[in-house]
Amino acid sequence: MPARATQAMAARSGIVVVAAALLALVAVSQAQAPGPSATPAGPPNVTAILVKGGQYTTFIRLMKETQQDTQLNSQLNNSFNGNGYTVFAPTDNAFNNLKPGTLNSLSQQEQVSLVQGHILPQYYSMESFQTASNPVRTQASGKKDPITLNIIATGNNQVNVSTGVVEVAVNNALSAVKPLAVYSVDKVLLPAEMFGAKAPAPAPTASKGDKTKKGEAASGPAGSADDAAPTGAAGARAVGWGVAGMAALLGYLL
Ligand SMILES: *[C@@H]1O[C@H](CO)[C@@H](O)[C@H](O)[C@H]1NC(C)=O
Ligand SMILES: *[C@@H]1O[C@H](CO)[C@@H](O)[C@H](O)[C@H]1NC(C)=O
Ligand SMILES: *[C@@H]1O[C@H](CO)[C@@H](O)[C@H](O)[C@H]1NC(C)=O
Repeated sequence: MPARATQAMAARSGIVVVAAALLALVAVSQAQAPGPSATPAGPPNVTAILVKGGQYTTFIRLMKETQQDTQLNSQLNNSFNGNGYTVFAPTDNAFNNLKPGTLNSLSQQEQVSLVQGHILPQYYSMESFQTASNPVRTQASGKKDPITLNIIATGNNQVNVSTGVVEVAVNNALSAVKPLAVYSVDKVLLPAEMFGAKAPAPAPTASKGDKTKKGEAASGPAGSADDAAPTGAAGARAVGWGVAGMAALLGYLL
C-alpha cells in the first residue's frame, strides 16, 4: 500500500513537473514574441519611461509629490492630436549635486513650478530643437512668473538648454516618439525666476555669445546644425547683436 501511494505521488509530481515546464516554455516564447502586442497601445506613460531609465528616482518622486506625473499622463491621454510634450529629466546625480537643502527650501508651489519648468507643452525631436524659437514655454509659463527656457544649438545636431542660471547639454532621449520626448539632463534646471537673485554674478549673455561663436567656428562647413538654427541658437545672440546694431545705426544717422 505505501509503495503504491508513493508511486502515485511520484507519477503526480511527474505530471506537475512536465506541466510546469510546458508553462515555462509558453511564458518564454510569449515574452520573446515581438509581434504587435509589444507596441504600446495606449498613451505613453512618463513614469514608466523614467522608471525604465533607471537613474531618475528623485525626479519621479518629485513628479509624484507635485502630481505632475498624473497630470502629464492625463494630458498625454487627451491630446494625441495636440503638440505633444517634451520632458527634461534630471538624473539622480543632478539632484545630488544641488546645494544641500535646495529642494527642502522650496514651498510646495515652488516645487510644482520647478517640475513644470522641466516640461514643455510641445514635442521636440533633437532636430526640431534646432529651429525652436527662444524663449520656449514650459508648463509653468501660464502663470504670473512664467518659467521659460532657451535652447542653444552647440553644433553637430546637439543642443544645450539654459534657464539663465543653469545651462546643460541635452543628452540621450529616453523617449523620442510623438507625443512624448524625454531627454536626460545632468543638471537640475533651476529657474532663474526662483534662483536668479541668489546666483553668483551671472553674466550669461556675454560669455554665452562667445561660446556660441566658438562652437560655430569649430563645426565649420559641416555645421548643418548651425544653418538650421537661426531662431534657436541665434535667439540667445540676438540680444547682443540687436544692441550693437542699434548703436551702429544710431552712429550712422547722427
Ligand atoms: C505608469 O507607470 C507607472 C510605473 O510603471 C505605474 O505605476 C502607473 O500605474 C502607470 N500609469 C498609468 C496611467 O498607466
Ligand atoms: C485615457 O482616456 C480614456 C477616455 O477618457 C480612458 O477611458 C482611459 O482609461 C485613459 N487611459 C489612461 C491610460 O489613462
Ligand atoms: C553647453 O553646456 C555645457 C555645460 O553642460 C557647457 O560646458 C558648454 O560650454 C555649453 N556649450 C555652448 C555652446 O554653450
